[in-house]
Amino acid sequence: MELYDNNPTINFDKEQVEENRQGDVFFKEQMLKKGAGSHKKFYIESYGCQMNFSDSEIVAAILSDMGYEPTRDMEQSDLILVNTCSIREKAEDTVRKRLRVFDKLKLQRPGMLVGVLGCMAERMKSALLEEEKLVDIVLGPDAYRDLPNLIATAEDGDKGINVFLSREETYSDINPVRLDNNGVSAFVTIMRGCDNMCSFCVVPFTRGRERSRDLYSILAECTELLGRGYKEVTLLGQNVDSYKWKNPENDSTVDFADLLEAVALLNPGLRVRFSTSHPKDISDKVLHTMAAHENICKYIHLPVQSGSSKVLKKMNRTYDREWYMHKMDRIREIMPDCAVSSDIICGFCTETEEDHQDTLSIMQFSDYSMSYMFFYSERPGTLAARKFEDDIPEEIKKRRLEEVIRLQNQLSYQHNLRDIGKTFKVLVEKVSKRSQEELAGRNSQNKMIVFPKGDTKIGDYVYVKVTDCTQATLKGELV
Ligand code: 5AD
Ligand code: SF4
Repeated sequence: MELYDNNPTINFDKEQVEENRQGDVFFKEQMLKKGAGSHKKFYIESYGCQMNFSDSEIVAAILSDMGYEPTRDMEQSDLILVNTCSIREKAEDTVRKRLRVFDKLKLQRPGMLVGVLGCMAERMKSALLEEEKLVDIVLGPDAYRDLPNLIATAEDGDKGINVFLSREETYSDINPVRLDNNGVSAFVTIMRGCDNMCSFCVVPFTRGRERSRDLYSILAECTELLGRGYKEVTLLGQNVDSYKWKNPENDSTVDFADLLEAVALLNPGLRVRFSTSHPKDISDKVLHTMAAHENICKYIHLPVQSGSSKVLKKMNRTYDREWYMHKMDRIREIMPDCAVSSDIICGFCTETEEDHQDTLSIMQFSDYSMSYMFFYSERPGTLAARKFEDDIPEEIKKRRLEEVIRLQNQLSYQHNLRDIGKTFKVLVEKVSKRSQEELAGRNSQNKMIVFPKGDTKIGDYVYVKVTDCTQATLKGELV
């Protein structure tokens, strides 16, 4: 019992971890029996959040079990899949443009199939088949197991659609095929769906209800990654802090802090990251667990969305400005070296200049190392679309967004300047874009550091002293 028995919170059962692995083997055998896709090639493009990229790896596993092989050359493929995002109108526009490219290819390659997966498939359902005449398959995020059947339907010349949203599906037993991967860092999905109902957000409609994945299958996946030489896992979910899994064996409940600790204890050489946290759910227990384990990265993506209590209420975020600031204080108290990043929406319904100033000031207070920043895009079916007027003119939304971006650029630069002279443990991930002689990797705080390669290679842990920076990157030298 070398792996798990030093965990103080959960009693692990290695046999259960093994059972999960065998479940995957059984699934593969079933798929191979179908054998439909032998020697065929699939090409998959993913848009949107990390979850979509992770889901594409589940889809790749289902296809490879059918005998399909992945290809990076869409002109050689028999099946083109696009895993889509609906979060903003622009994300859907991007997908529509890609579909025009696939249309052309399809005319040149009769028999080639095109499938739309993910949030846009779920949001639009059969309307997508009506609007996009050359699309053969429409498949929502909880229905990927049905892909072999839908391929068969499409091969018979019919349209295949499944947009069923499940309360249970977690794809626990499917071992993802890692796509475009550096062999160092992998995503591991721990929960799916979202019950939060932020008024601006389409995700609860496209990804359904929250459900958490079996702890043992998560540990089995991480153990397998470790065995293949991976050094970092990012635990993924729309709202990871509400992870909750009831062990049917003994009725005990495993929460996110327990899970984090269990993964961290698998091996001190395995770095653990997670995303995304909802400020209302990240508990002191999670913060203390992070602080207690060197290999849990000191980085939290904690989207604030707005700094105005009035706007937060309208967004249905369930916290106010003061509550968020208090949470930031707790993070700093418990982990002074923790970096925090955010998502910010500019120009949500009724947002005044004063509300906007509140957003700028909470960004300053929180000292974000970086942020993803957007202007509000009304999404059909959401509470905001049904109840509130999208009343902020586009030029005001854009001007406020520019101000937010300008401030974040300054904050990121100052954040980086403060790191000059410090030495960080870096996990080497890739060759630098600028030079073959330089490598790049992240520190615990999720900052990318570029340094002359010396004798190091991808997958190594190295210590790097920061000597210089830009707004986006730290530069350093090996110590
Ligand atoms: N308009 C703009 N941004 C949005 N987000 C979610 N919905 C919308 C929308 N309708 C942003 C939020 C969320 C991130 C993933 O996308 O900031 O945290
Ligand atoms: Fe959307 Fe809010 Fe759920 Fe995030 S927490 S996915 S913003 S509803």
